Amino acid sequence: DTKTPSLYGAYEGIFHIGAAVSTRTIRREGEFIASHYNSLTAENQMKFEEIHPEESSYDFDAADEIMKFAEKNGMAVRGHALVWHNQTPDWVFEEADGTPASRERVLERLHSHAHAVMSRYRGRIHAWDVVNEAIEEKTEAYLRETKWLTTVGEDYLEQAFRIAHAADPSAQLFYNDYNETDPIKRDKIYRLVRSLLEVGAPVHGMGMQGHWNLHGPSIDEIREAIERYASLGVRLHITELDVSAFDFEDRRSDLLAPTDEMQEMLTQRYDDIFRLFREYRNFIDSVTFWGAADNHTWLDGFPVRGRLNWPLPFDRELKPKPAFWRIVE
Ligand code: G3I
Repeated sequence: DTKTPSLYGAYEGIFHIGAAVSTRTIRREGEFIASHYNSLTAENQMKFEEIHPEESSYDFDAADEIMKFAEKNGMAVRGHALVWHNQTPDWVFEEADGTPASRERVLERLHSHAHAVMSRYRGRIHAWDVVNEAIEEKTEAYLRETKWLTTVGEDYLEQAFRIAHAADPSAQLFYNDYNETDPIKRDKIYRLVRSLLEVGAPVHGMGMQGHWNLHGPSIDEIREAIERYASLGVRLHITELDVSAFDFEDRRSDLLAPTDEMQEMLTQRYDDIFRLFREYRNFIDSVTFWGAADNHTWLDGFPVRGRLNWPLPFDRELKPKPAFWRIVE
């Protein structure tokens, strides 16, 4: 419709406004997506297991379709994600027992995957989430005990960034994580990115996922995290923004629409969050919502099965919510 302004238009020249999509959502609501977002991330279809399910077989069809849609509509694309403990096929770690020989084998597999994927989209995907969620948050441990860590060793992150840079020297390479504003985890992430920079690993950016909710993190915590990561001299992308309309005391699963109070809280949260992003526009180059509208959000049924959620600026009928108007204003 002509009367609704474009969401990304409100931030033209300040930063990209993006959405996580799938071939399903771009087929069903591509026009809506192209009118409001000027950057895309494949929610799942550029992940290791989707593109490279078996060592000898690649399936680029979905990723190609998303790329084609993005390029037809002049949209930037963020690649997500090369190295993660989720959605990585088991074959990558086959006969990997932590010996030096098996370390080389796992690195070789990562090298082949990264070169196949990144060279296919070289110069077309401007930013990649090279390593996703490597920090341990449940214990005092530093790195999450993943198969990448146990089979390659502590330097798997450095190796991943070097492999990715060789595969596409033009791409900006990001470390990406969630709960990135929690002071303890924030300091671990800061330590990790600084240590990578200190060994000369080509890390160009920090991806703050931004999976926030109606009650937190506070604007001060988000500000503090932005300042800390920016102080490393890396670029910042908000990579998976949504505001979960859920408070952990209220475990009702029968709520089928946001209460007026929830809607107002969501609107105020997005108002506060985007004021902060504008304030730090010299450090933030991209803000991506993890979904284009409430009709498709990973938060439906999380953390309470059956419970709907309303975390995005557009409702389940793709209509702008009060939060949309506040963000645009
Ligand atoms: O593709 C299979 C399909 O063949 C099968 O029939 C179906 C039922 O089992 O599962 C499908 O795979 C699902 C996949 O999404 C694709 O739809 C997986 O079960 C499901 O677990 C997976 O969830 C994704 C999740 O990452 C996986 O960890 C979510 O859609 C996606 O939003 C979420 O995104 C992550 C980011 O990548 C990293 N940051 C956190 C964020 C939220 O968890």
